[in-house]
Amino acid sequence: MPFLTVDDRMTADRALRLIRRGHTLLWTGDFQNARQILAALGRRVPAPRDGSFADQRRRQAERVRILSSLFVPMTGHRVTLRRSPDLRTACREAGVPHDAGPVPLRELLGVIGAHQLRRRGVHVPALNDRIHPHYGVFAPTRSEYADLVAQQPLPAGAGTAFDIGTGTGLLAAILARRGIRRLVATDNNPRAVACARENLERLAVSAEVLETDLFPPGRADLIVCNPPWIPATPLTALDRAVYDEDGRMLRGFLGTVRERLEPGGEAWLILSDLAELLGLRSRGELVAMFQAGGLRVAGRTSVEPRHRRARDGEVTDLWQLRPGGC
Ligand SMILES: C[S@@+](CC[C@H](N)C(=O)[O-])C[C@H]1O[C@@H](n2cnc3c(N)ncnc32)[C@H](O)[C@@H]1O
Repeated sequence: MPFLTVDDRMTADRALRLIRRGHTLLWTGDFQNARQILAALGRRVPAPRDGSFADQRRRQAERVRILSSLFVPMTGHRVTLRRSPDLRTACREAGVPHDAGPVPLRELLGVIGAHQLRRRGVHVPALNDRIHPHYGVFAPTRSEYADLVAQQPLPAGAGTAFDIGTGTGLLAAILARRGIRRLVATDNNPRAVACARENLERLAVSAEVLETDLFPPGRADLIVCNPPWIPATPLTALDRAVYDEDGRMLRGFLGTVRERLEPGGEAWLILSDLAELLGLRSRGELVAMFQAGGLRVAGRTSVEPRHRRARDGEVTDLWQLRPGGC
């Protein structure tokens, strides 16, 4: 990639003009100054907060492109700039190739943030313990949905459970603490599989964790799933835990879960209604998916997301689904 070399004399306004003209910048000055320029670029191209969903996504994609156009030089997991922190552990954990060469500073800061979060972990009240997310794995920093799973009465005599799309392994851990004896957790993201295995081992939870699309072999008394909740194309690999293109995972889960339940079993679907608020899916379409999967709604419990970016009126539901017509 042809770079335009820039240093501490560069201003954010000029950097923005150069990027908008199609240049990719390679910073050769001080690392901390590069961070400040990136923050200043971010203020000049703020995250979109208004307009239609499609318009916001278009502007967000452009924002990501602009902020990813400032590179720093890297050799063997070392950024060769003044005042650069030691990034070797963070890069190794995130799987940054050893010979990556120059990297977008924005991505590198994501790698650093993920390393810090993994080290300190997230306290999850429903577990009364800490979960340590890995880079690229959905972090339960908004964990009110975990309270739903911790409080929902278990199906009578439930001894086996599947956690589909387990991420950090959080929901599997909660089910184990509630007395489920045999647990199988799956995810199609290899980073999530490694992360869940590590968390479950640390929490002394005995569970099988498999890298697979949706279901493991066999059946279970309880099958839980907290799928990505926005049916739209992910902009980055890191978006995949939140954005589900065409609602593929949700559709796949609801279309098959009935066949994977033991007699008397239940499926728990955890789903924010943000897609409905954004006009991307109607409640009628969701109910039609339940019906198409041969499922009836046996109950629904809701909670309001507490995180600062939650929309007014947004709720997360635990849909308790059982085989049968509506
Ligand atoms: C919203 S996150 C939920 C993670 C975790 N269960 C939790 O509640 O914190 C959705 C997860 O589903 C996984 N996923 C997406 N599509 C999948 C598929 N087809 N099969 C298995 N897992 C999938 C993602 O990798 C991600 O870890």
